[in-house]
Amino acid sequence: MFKGLKPIVYGGREVWPLIEGGKGVSATNHASAGAWAAAGGIGTVSAVNADSYDPTGKIIPQVYASRTRRERHDELIQYGIDGGVAQVQRAWELSGGAGAININVLWEMGGAQQILHGILERTKGMVSGVTCGAGMPYKLSEIASSYGVSYLPIISSARAFRALWKRAYSKAAEFLSAVVYEDPWLAGGHNGLSNAEDPLRPEDPYPRVKALRETMREGGIPDETPIVMAGGVWNLKEWENWIDNPELGQIAFQFGTRPLLTQESPIPQGWKDRLMTLEEGDVLLHKFSPTGFYSSAVRNPFLRSLEARSERQIPYSGEQAGDHTHQLDIAVKGKNFWVTRGDLLRAREWFGQGYTAALKTPDNTLVFVTTAERDVIRKDQTDCMGCLSHCGFSSWKDHDDYSTGYLADPRSFCIQKTLQDIAHGGDTEQNLMFAGHAAFRFKKDPFYSNGFVPTVKQLVDRILTGD
Ligand SMILES: Cc1cc2nc3c(=O)[nH]c(=O)nc-3n(C[C@H](O)[C@H](O)[C@H](O)COP(=O)(O)O)c2cc1C
Ligand code: SF4
Repeated sequence: MFKGLKPIVYGGREVWPLIEGGKGVSATNHASAGAWAAAGGIGTVSAVNADSYDPTGKIIPQVYASRTRRERHDELIQYGIDGGVAQVQRAWELSGGAGAININVLWEMGGAQQILHGILERTKGMVSGVTCGAGMPYKLSEIASSYGVSYLPIISSARAFRALWKRAYSKAAEFLSAVVYEDPWLAGGHNGLSNAEDPLRPEDPYPRVKALRETMREGGIPDETPIVMAGGVWNLKEWENWIDNPELGQIAFQFGTRPLLTQESPIPQGWKDRLMTLEEGDVLLHKFSPTGFYSSAVRNPFLRSLEARSERQIPYSGEQAGDHTHQLDIAVKGKNFWVTRGDLLRAREWFGQGYTAALKTPDNTLVFVTTAERDVIRKDQTDCMGCLSHCGFSSWKDHDDYSTGYLADPRSFCIQKTLQDIAHGGDTEQNLMFAGHAAFRFKKDPFYSNGFVPTVKQLVDRILTGD
């Protein structure tokens, strides 16, 4: 046992302060969460468009029959509820009553509140807590506590927690079972960097978590309520100073990237194999997600092509103005595209290389793509099933007039399509492959030598040794 590490009481029983973070789409499910709980920790079922099963036990592909986005959005909510319920029930059975099961939702997912209600309604007594990040989930406390379930907000600064606490969470204080601090520079998946933080200048988590504890104390939250450290945690020996440290209060640790590589991890074999090949610097913090948030993923050809697309970009004006003295004479219809002379020459060069379609962005720029890329972008926008509350890529919004009011942004992509695809065996190089910045450690850590893939129990036991 790693020194100083003690079980905590969570969900009415003793568990290790070790959590597998929820990973959507379908990168944590019943198999991983149930095994993590059975090993004595806290497992997290992802309730972000989770898989459900037909009577023979086969995954039901999420196919959309309706003709409008709004109707497809309703289908998606139903898939989300059925999937969440199926995963929780199975995880609960696998856990054998040990550990605890949480569910994870993203506040910015379309229909988040309905899905949360739908799942909690049908899984009474099985779910210990709801973890939720992305955006400001003020209503999380109210919804979870109405089912007698605890909530664990995921935040990346003390400031964000203070705002949530003051406005909402202090009214359901007894159901706050932990606060997850997710390092916005290091964690896999979406990252909570705010305008106050520089994506290129990572900050030490220690003072930030200390500030969070101070904020929690100001709110009268006891030091026994854990802060869950997430993002960049590989082994406990590197966090020795955090354990049993009166300055920080109770700390628990959340792992996201490392548990991707276990026997029970539901991601396809190709994705697991790829993890073993990653080098330092292969994971990129970027801003292409249609949610508008930063996120961290493997810099594979999919991500590189988004980077390249954004580089093939020029500003334009609708009329001659300033240094926009030249009319674009390629790739656009009409004459109302005035650009600089330098950009005209660049655009002609791209055109010559086969990027013959120019697409408008919401920032009065054009990006140059091939006609094949253009067709995929258009089709994906047309096929949108409204999986987000606001989508930069398709302009979908899940309420009011169902539009963000901005032009659909061709520099982004349909995250629903690509995450579903990679989770169900699609090409690892042509899809978004979320990963934390410590993923390169698989290749270096002797635990994984000779291609060893642990069971969840073996991984938890290994973590408990400090390694
Ligand atoms: C593939 C992947 C998908 C993720 N999806 C989600 C998600 O849907 N919701 C969420 O709150 N966090 C998500 N995360 C974040 C993890 O729950 C966890 O907090 C994070 O990975 C911890 O940092 P690490 O990657 O350095 O271990 C995801 C992480 C990964 C690697
Ligand atoms: S286009 Fe946007 S909202 Fe629509 S399904 Fe794709 S990611 Fe979701």
